Amino acid sequence: MSRPSTSAVKGGRPASKPLHRGKQGHSNTRIAIRPAEVSDAEFIRDLSRKAFQQYGPYEALLPNWFLSGIGATMVAVLGRKIAGYAMLERIMGQAGSPRVSELLAIAVEPWGRNHGVGDRLLAETIRKARERHVERVVLHTAVDNLSGQALFRKHGFVACGIKTAFYPEGQDALVMEKELKPEAQARDLGAPGKPGESGWKRN
Ligand SMILES: CC(C)(COP(=O)(O)OP(=O)(O)OC[C@H]1O[C@@H](n2cnc3c(N)ncnc32)[C@H](O)[C@@H]1OP(=O)(O)O)[C@@H](O)C(=O)NCCC(=O)NCCS
Repeated sequence: MSRPSTSAVKGGRPASKPLHRGKQGHSNTRIAIRPAEVSDAEFIRDLSRKAFQQYGPYEALLPNWFLSGIGATMVAVLGRKIAGYAMLERIMGQAGSPRVSELLAIAVEPWGRNHGVGDRLLAETIRKARERHVERVVLHTAVDNLSGQALFRKHGFVACGIKTAFYPEGQDALVMEKELKPEAQARDLGAPGKPGESGWKRN
């Protein structure tokens, strides 16, 4: 997630599940992705509280970012129930500057996790970013959010820095980024990034 003073949400929740979780078989055919509607604001509020309240007032911030149009938001429907959302910062094209967009937040309902919903949401977010000619996607996630980091690494994000006390509640954030330039696409399925690989820096 991002930080209130900047544009977006921030980190994610600490991994509460073991890294060696039981696979439940991703049934992607049951997952549909669609643009969020105004009537989804309450869902975004509720899930943001569950997923991010330990970091700050994201229960209020995320629906506000959605409703104000700061974040382009998609929701995932698993079976018949809305199971998650992802919010990508909308960028204004400025001539000569790189088109960088922040993934403000991604979250899946606790009951819907480990079914491939996060995978689908992130893949669709990246696809949308490419469609909008975004050159780089950046994100912040809590340094101890190992499940979130695993998801991001799986999709080609690499760690590029740490911001201390980034979140309103004082936690540090890991900064990750993914290049979307055509030449970077070939690396998308490459080895996951490791700390130090892209020159970690502390703020
Ligand atoms: C992180 C999160 C979005 C993952 O959603 P999900 O639907 O459970 O993820 P998926 O089932 O699609 O799994 C996709 C990948 O994520 C990673 N992952 C997800 N849960 C994991 C866990 N408990 N431990 C390790 N890796 C995990 C794996 O790389 C996985 O790929 P694999 O199945 O091939 O191993 C979800 O746990 C969540 O909402 N967490 C709280 C909010 C948060 O932390 N958001 C991220 C920071 S903004």
